[in-house]
Amino acid sequence: MSLTFLIGFMGSGKTTHGRKLANFLDVDFIDLDEVFEQQNGTISNYFTVFGEEKFRQTESDLLKNTVYPENAIVSTGGGLPVFFDNLNWMKQHGTVIYLQVPPGVIAARLSNAKNERPLLQHKTGNELLQFITERLAEREPIYLKAQIIADGVGITARKLADLLVHHS
Ligand code: S3P
Repeated sequence: MSLTFLIGFMGSGKTTHGRKLANFLDVDFIDLDEVFEQQNGTISNYFTVFGEEKFRQTESDLLKNTVYPENAIVSTGGGLPVFFDNLNWMKQHGTVIYLQVPPGVIAARLSNAKNERPLLQHKTGNELLQFITERLAEREPIYLKAQIIADGVGITARKLADLLVHHS
């Protein structure tokens, strides 16, 4: 089976569905945000102390230096594929699934989970929706280069597993 990377915007369900898919397939699950925080403290604090540019570099190094099990589902931070050659690296080392979710759904999901996400802090209501809409529009052309595009609304582990099987 090898490695499967889940990419997509914050709040698209990469961690939730990644964990379920790993359970369903009985393989390991790695959440790169979690590994980042184990090594460096919270992402939010890291942004404050070192800034976004250093965060992007450290996150990219983590992607490439992690020793992965032979078979695993890997969930990634929302910005990871849009910096450096990270998306191509993931495509070369495994299969990349983009969890596509519309901005309105993302905004609703994130309205209560903003504090741990430095890019969203202090944004509310329309401002939050506008930020997500604009940032997603910038990033989506890159996300869409994944080998598999999955409709992230109503997705299940079984559907994701089917998409993976039909792709290979
Ligand atoms: C970010 C997404 C976050 C985290 C950081 C920046 C982004 O990960 O890496 O806050 O730029 O989209 P999640 O997508 O797992 O929330």
